[in-house]
Amino acid sequence: MQTFTNQDITDYYDHTEPHYRQWWKMEDSMGLHYGVWGPTTKTLSEAILNTNSRLAEMGKISPSDKILDAGCGVGGSSIFLAKKYGCRVAGITLSERQVRTATSFSEKKGVAHLASFAKQDYTNTHFPDNHFDVAWAIESMQTATDKSLFFKEIKRVLKPGGRLLIADVFKKGDWKIAETPVMQTMLNGWAMSDILSIAQLEKTAEKHNFALAQNRDVSLEIIPSIKQYYRFAWLGMIGTKWYNLFHDATYFSKTHYKTGFAQYKGWKRGLWEYRLLSMVNDE
Ligand SMILES: C[S@@+](CC[C@H](N)C(=O)[O-])C[C@H]1O[C@@H](n2cnc3c(N)ncnc32)[C@H](O)[C@@H]1O
Repeated sequence: MQTFTNQDITDYYDHTEPHYRQWWKMEDSMGLHYGVWGPTTKTLSEAILNTNSRLAEMGKISPSDKILDAGCGVGGSSIFLAKKYGCRVAGITLSERQVRTATSFSEKKGVAHLASFAKQDYTNTHFPDNHFDVAWAIESMQTATDKSLFFKEIKRVLKPGGRLLIADVFKKGDWKIAETPVMQTMLNGWAMSDILSIAQLEKTAEKHNFALAQNRDVSLEIIPSIKQYYRFAWLGMIGTKWYNLFHDATYFSKTHYKTGFAQYKGWKRGLWEYRLLSMVNDE
C-alpha cells in the first residue's frame, strides 16, 4: 500500500488548486468534494453546495453550535455554516495555501468574524478537550492512513453528546488496494492510501464510542458529479500533456487527470459508494 505523509497531502492540494479552480467551479462553490444532486439542482456548483445543506440538515445544525471543520479545504463548508446558521467555525487543513485561500473567501463573503482557518493536523490539534458541539468532515476523514487516529482526536475535542458529520467515499465489495490498480489510481492520485467500507468505519468509530445515528447512501445522487469529473479528465489530460511539453510539472499535477478516469471506472465496476453519516459522541 502506498502511504502519504502530511507533506505529500499538502503538496497534492497545493499543486492541484489551479485544477479545482478551473474545472471544479472552486470560485463559486468553494468546495473540493462531490456534489449531491437533487430534483431541482441545475449546476455543479449548486450540487456541491447541496452536499453542505444535506449534511447540515442531518446534523440539525443550530446557531449556537461551535463547529470544527476537520480538513476544511478552501473553506466552503465553514463559510456556508457561518453564513446560513451564524455558527462559529474553526476550519483546519494541512495546507498553508488553503488557509490563505479560505481566509480570503471568508473575508469576501463577510463571515471572517465567524469562520477562521489554521494549518493543523486533525489527528493532533491544538484545541482543548470537549471544545466543539459538532465536528464536520467532508471528504477528509478517508485521507487519514490510520482512521482511528482521526476518531481518537475528534473524540477528545468534541463535547459529550456532540455530533460528527461525515460525507465521504466508501469501499464497496471485497477488494484489496494492492490488487486493484483502478482504485490505486483513483485514491493515490488524491494522496489517499486506502478507504474503509461502511462496516469497517462503524467498527473503528465504535472503538472510540461513536454511535452511528444516520447513514445515507447518496451514490445515485452524485452520478452527475462523477460524470462531470470524467469529462473534465479528458480536458485535463490534454491540458496536462500540453503543459508538460514546456514545464517540469510535479507528480500530483502530472497525474491528477487520471483520477477522473479511475473514479469513473471504479464507480462503473461498483467498487465504491458515497455516504452521508451522522455519529454521536457517546460517553
Ligand atoms: C478533498 S479535500 C476536502 C475539503 C473540504 N472538506 C471540502 O469539502 O471542500 C480534503 C481536505 O482534508 C485535509 N486533510 C487531509 N488530511 C488532513 C489532516 N491530517 N489534518 C488536517 N486536514 C487534513 C486536506 O488538507 C484538505 O483540505
